[in-house]
Amino acid sequence: MKEKVSLALDKRTWRPSPLLGQVVLVTSLNADGQSNVAPKSWLSMMAFEPALLALGCNLAHWTAQNVIDRHEFVVNIPGAELVEIVWKAHTLSHPRPVERIGLTPLPAQKVKPPRIAECKAHLECTLVQSLAFGSEVILLGQIVAASMDRDAIEAEDPYAYLRLFAFLEKNTFGVIEQARRVRERGI
Ligand SMILES: Cc1cc2nc3c(=O)[nH]c(=O)nc-3n(C[C@H](O)[C@H](O)[C@H](O)COP(=O)(O)O)c2cc1C
Repeated sequence: MKEKVSLALDKRTWRPSPLLGQVVLVTSLNADGQSNVAPKSWLSMMAFEPALLALGCNLAHWTAQNVIDRHEFVVNIPGAELVEIVWKAHTLSHPRPVERIGLTPLPAQKVKPPRIAECKAHLECTLVQSLAFGSEVILLGQIVAASMDRDAIEAEDPYAYLRLFAFLEKNTFGVIEQARRVRERGI
């Protein structure tokens, strides 16, 4: 049997991290109608019907405040070729509209915050509920529209096209470069 080592409960100290979080760019709207963009990785699908996702965010962040005040956000899915832009984005001061990080806003289908043209897929959400714990908040969003590059849908390996990437630990990420299939049928 392998020896087990106890870990501290502070996720920041986990090296390597046993949990990963897909890196996305969340767009929301400031009070003046300008867009705000921030990288986030504490994100997961939560339910099929209704289509719900949960996003963990610091309550003081502009993203959390915008979503709580205006109830809408877009989860934009970047490919790994954008990793430098994505990582740099969180160091830039506010206001931080999409153009400020060198990317292009694209009107969304159902909500007011923009999609980001260079990202490959977009989940437009309305806020269903927020659950605050100390300085952090879980934002539960209902997906009201979803869109993706046609090239992703038509690619032989759509995952090789998407190049999804995940936050592992400080300054460290992992990329899905290809899809593999299990032999068994089902999920
Ligand atoms: C790859 C990456 C993932 C991040 N994930 C999160 C996250 O899930 N939740 C969070 O609150 N901050 C996260 N951050 C930090 C925020 O992006 C950063 O504090 C940003 O400035 C917040 O912007 P905002 O105030 O416009 O929301 C992440 C940063 C990086 C680089």
